[in-house]
Amino acid sequence: TQYTEEINAFLTENAEELEQFRIRFLGTKGIIKDIFDEFKAVSPEEKRTLGKVLNEFKQLAENKYQSIKEQTATESVSKDKDMDLSLPGEGFEIGARHPLALVRREIVEIFNKLGFVVAEGPEIEDDWHNFSALNFPEEHPARDMQDTFFIKKGGEKGDIALRTHTSSVQVRMMEAGKPPFRAIMPGRVYRNEAISARAHCFFHQVEGLYVDENVSFADLKQTLFYFVQELYGEGTKVRFRPSYFPFTEPSAEMDISCTICKGAGCQLCKYSGWVEILGCGMVDPNVLENCGIDSKKYSGFAFGMGIERIANLKFEIKDLRLFSENDVRFLKQYKSSL
Ligand code: PHE
Repeated sequence: TQYTEEINAFLTENAEELEQFRIRFLGTKGIIKDIFDEFKAVSPEEKRTLGKVLNEFKQLAENKYQSIKEQTATESVSKDKDMDLSLPGEGFEIGARHPLALVRREIVEIFNKLGFVVAEGPEIEDDWHNFSALNFPEEHPARDMQDTFFIKKGGEKGDIALRTHTSSVQVRMMEAGKPPFRAIMPGRVYRNEAISARAHCFFHQVEGLYVDENVSFADLKQTLFYFVQELYGEGTKVRFRPSYFPFTEPSAEMDISCTICKGAGCQLCKYSGWVEILGCGMVDPNVLENCGIDSKKYSGFAFGMGIERIANLKFEIKDLRLFSENDVRFLKQYKSSL
């Protein structure tokens, strides 16, 4: 009875005191164990009545222990965290798409409507795909047009380098299949240039290729004209200036009427009213032959544009470096363009 009273009176919020209690009564060397040991020596008649009392006593101690343990456990959660459930929650941010990804997607979608499929190629290229098949002759000054990051000089497939343009994907596509080809090829390209607001050692291009019977320069012009109307809005003017690329003949560069001043003259277009957006031309018959395509039967056009340049015009971004610095203040601005 002395112990029964003690157990009934026991109250604590302290985990250590509770543990003391457990050891004292319920432990392997505790009071209850002792009593049960003594109980073994008692006569059979006494065992019946005494056994019942002892079991009730043991149950009492156990129940007490359990109930205090549960209580302190729930109390410590609400006490420690000091939660105020009426406070407003902390908002979490949803990421924004990168402006280059937005522009790439827009370009791809426009060409999808014209039946162009998307194709990709490797960023580490061999000399053949990046230069030779594209009609850049060995030791020809045209190779100096692009400063190249070489990875390995003079391998089995010639020099290995980071591709300097996505035109290499044209070659891979034509080698792998049969005409007609109608594809658009977005990807990252690399050039050994000092990083500044207007140049970077890597940037992104979208290549276009259309090869079939009877493809003409008129098809090229109309395709690109449609593209520009879709991308920059109806009424955007285009003009073609003769140019040179080893892999197209004839070659041209295409300008559009400045999207900022609409041709009136501003800093972006250097008061000319025009901005260059891409290079293009009819695929050189040598290139078709290099890829195993009959240049008597097939003809085609190709074009290549820099995604950064297109994005600059759309978003008026003046410093190329912003695209790769991952400054959230910059990236966040395009969230609404999702
Ligand atoms: N590859 C050229 C460049 O990087 C662009 C281009 C592509 C020109 C296709 C003509 C045809 O400048």
